[in-house]
Amino acid sequence: MNATGTPEPEDSYDAGPFVPAGADLATLREAAAGCRGCPLHRNTTQTVFSSGDADARVVLVGEQPGDQEDRKGLPFVGPAGRVLMQALDEAGIDPTETYVTNAVKHFKFEYVPERGKRRIHKTPNLRELSACKPWLTAELRLIDPEVIVALGATAGKALLGPSFRVTKQRGALLTCPSFDGDEEREECVVATIHPSAVLRADDREAVYRGLVSDLRVAAQALS
Ligand code: URA
Repeated sequence: MNATGTPEPEDSYDAGPFVPAGADLATLREAAAGCRGCPLHRNTTQTVFSSGDADARVVLVGEQPGDQEDRKGLPFVGPAGRVLMQALDEAGIDPTETYVTNAVKHFKFEYVPERGKRRIHKTPNLRELSACKPWLTAELRLIDPEVIVALGATAGKALLGPSFRVTKQRGALLTCPSFDGDEEREECVVATIHPSAVLRADDREAVYRGLVSDLRVAAQALS
């Protein structure tokens, strides 16, 4: 659907028409609640836009809201969020001084027969990522952070393009073109694993240590 509610062919997924030009954060958030730029909104509770400090020096970009985030309307309020907050703290980044968002603003999930009524996370595809990108671009323009942290492969692809590989590019200061259209400027990005990888790992401690070590690179870029 486009902004006037007209059905669109499947290949034109795009949040762009829903993003108000020159809007402040509150207006963006309000507009995002009505986004119909791709079909992911259909079975969700709500748009999960962002949380945190609009003056933050660090923006954290996750993949998409999970089950709990979809219910509560806020990013990273479930188990992965708890891992993330602890790791940030340990890396020397005050979690209360960050702005937290996702590459995709609706929860993508499926039902699998053996899991009953549980909504099982499904990774968003490149079309959904690129459809949702105008929201992320608008947020980054407004917040204008010193460092952007990409949490996992999907966030990395949203920021750095489809060839991004988290295993190869994590833990280093990377650059990407500025989001405010200024060709001279570049954004400073640090990529790391998604915090949910810690929860799934056999060796949780080692994987957690890797996350903290990558986040320290972001902390150092601030000083
Ligand atoms: N995982 C994400 O990538 N984002 C959230 O908000 C929650 C879990």
